[in-house]
Amino acid sequence: MKTTSLFLTAGLLATSLATPLTPRADDKKIVAQEFDVSSFTAGCVPHGTQCSISFDVATNQMPFQTHCTFTGAPLGSSSLPDVGFAAGTCADKTINWSFRAVANGDAKPFAYEFALVDSEQSLAASKFFIAQAFPLVNAGSSYYQTFTGEGRFVVHGQE
Ligand SMILES: *[C@@H]1O[C@H](CO)[C@@H](O)[C@H](O)[C@H]1NC(C)=O
Repeated sequence: MKTTSLFLTAGLLATSLATPLTPRADDKKIVAQEFDVSSFTAGCVPHGTQCSISFDVATNQMPFQTHCTFTGAPLGSSSLPDVGFAAGTCADKTINWSFRAVANGDAKPFAYEFALVDSEQSLAASKFFIAQAFPLVNAGSSYYQTFTGEGRFVVHGQE
């Protein structure tokens, strides 16, 4: 036992002594490519003329959350419209995002894609939701679309 820990200590010491004090130019910082999204809500108001998407997001390099929102007219009478990167904005201007329905031709969407870009970090990531996460809810005399999934999730970038 004692011998093992002695060897271990010696090994650690040797390792730390071998580590250069200044990082070499070719050392790359390994940072997880991800956006941590919370309080995600999306939906349209029944009988409304308005839909909105809202969430908070943080990244490894931007640990303090920034708030992001979009408000706009529905697609048709009740569906979330596509939101382009220029319209999907955040309080922190380095973050842009988009949201779009994914459909075959003019068929009903089978998925939704939510994408985020951090221009300062050259970081981009997107997440697909199944269409069922955005159901049309019957409000009696009308329908409205709303997000029913978990409002907290991580969006991973390309490796
Ligand atoms: C990102 O959002 C800002 C506002 O926060 C906007 O001015 C800019 O045009 C957007 N960038 C892109 C690429 O759409």
